Parts: sequence; C-alpha cells; structure tokens
Amino acid sequence: MISINVYPLPSYAQDEDLTDSVAVVIDVLRATTVIVSAFAGGVKDVIPVLDIEQARQQKELLEKKYGKGSVLLGGERKGIPIAGFDLGNSPQHFTSEKIADKILILTTTNGTVALHAAKKARNLYVAGLVNAQAVVERLKNENKIAIFCAGTDGEITEEDLLLAGCLVSRLSRNFRQDQCQNQYQNQCRNQCRNQCQWNHHAETAKQLWENRFFIDNNESVSESGLIEFLYQSRGGKNLIMLGLEADIAVAAKIDSIDLVPEIHL
Ligand code: MLT
Repeated sequence: MISINVYPLPSYAQDEDLTDSVAVVIDVLRATTVIVSAFAGGVKDVIPVLDIEQARQQKELLEKKYGKGSVLLGGERKGIPIAGFDLGNSPQHFTSEKIADKILILTTTNGTVALHAAKKARNLYVAGLVNAQAVVERLKNENKIAIFCAGTDGEITEEDLLLAGCLVSRLSRNFRQDQCQNQYQNQCRNQCRNQCQWNHHAETAKQLWENRFFIDNNESVSESGLIEFLYQSRGGKNLIMLGLEADIAVAAKIDSIDLVPEIHL
C-alpha cells in the first residue's frame, strides 16, 4: 500500500507522519522555485536557514573552510531582498554566472521554515512547478510520501496546493499504470486506486488541479493557464503588489527543469 499525504501547512503534520517517509516541500512563490533554479544553475549546495543572523554566521564559518567568495547569501523578508545579501528571492537571478559551484545559504519567510519542519523525513526533496515531473519520477517507487506546502505567513496558499494536486494526480495515474497486473487496465481503475491511499487534503489538492487542468480525463496544462491561476493566488497577489510579476512567469514554467534537489539538514 502506498500512502500520499498532503499537508496544506507544515503545522498540519506531526513528527510521526514523517517516520520512514520521504518529504517533498513546496513553496511555488518562490523559495522552492529558487532552490530548483539554483541547482539548475550549478549551485554546489543550498543550505536553508531560519534567520538572517544565522545566515551571516554560517557564511563566515563556511568561507573559513572553502575560501572567500565560495558562499552566497540569498532570500527575502516581506518579499524584499535582505540588506547586504548577494541575492534576493527571484528565481531568474540564480543564473549559472552567479551561482555555479557556490554554496547558497537561503533564508525566506515561509519556504525555508517548511524545509526545517520536514527535516525528520528519510529524504527531503524540493518541488516547484518547474520540476514537477522530475519529482513525480523520483517518487514513483516510494511507499510513504509527505507533501508539505509552505503557505504564506501561516495561511494556506492556492499555488502550493495546486502543485501538491499536480503531484498527487500524476502519481496516482502512474501507480495505476505501472502497478496494475490486469491486462484490461482500463476496466480496473477502482481496483488499482486501492493500491494507493491519499488523505483528504491530497484529494482536495488533486481536484483543484484536475478541475482546472483536465479535459476529457487528460491533463491539459499551459504556462499561460498557470500564470492566470498564480496571479489570483495569495502568493501571486503579494508579488504583483511588489512589482515582481516576472517571478510568477518563471515559476509557471512547468516541467522545464529535469532535476530534484535533495536537502540535508
Ligand atoms: C517564502 O519563503 O515565503 C517565499 O520565499 C516568499 C517570497 O518569495 O516572497
């Protein structure tokens, strides 16, 4: 039996939910999109930390070990870059020119907090829309999956739930196809569904995705459709208020990056 549980906020999960589980952390706008982009740009490692002072101290320590210029600080508070940091939290700024072979210390309002909340998992993976399919491929053979949505300041955000729904929807289809022993596969959807269990929040998230991006039982998703959705979401509205619409368009580039960052905390 495979179990997939979605937690719309990190506070919805108990420690035991992570026992023998892999965790996937989602903060579409923008922390996890930034981490995926940083790895795509060749970053050596990303270290999420909870506060600004801790980030500065860690940089000092690591530069003693690896040399000056080997470590960059990135992140935001209230969506705005942090004074004295090398980078803010706009994914398109994490280019290979800036971050290849560097260690990135990242501190953000919600995303890095969610990563810490999930650190007891056996493996801790990072998901954005940008690497959704790569995450699905990575999770295909796992038995217990906890999907943590970061939310915004303690409130559930639609954009995180949407990606959680995308993962559940794609995974549930994978399980049906890969694990069904019945030669008449299309006649045994219910039987195969029984091999994979998901919680109520996972079902809600899955419906959010499928109601929006399914036509005739098939996924039909476009970047423009995602941008439209993200513009209406809590995180999207915050970014629009800050004049950061460009970040939304980058976050909406679904399946454009074929890697899954793993974080070690
Ligand atoms: C977060 O961690 O909450 C996000 O990074 C917020 C943002 O990007 O502004």
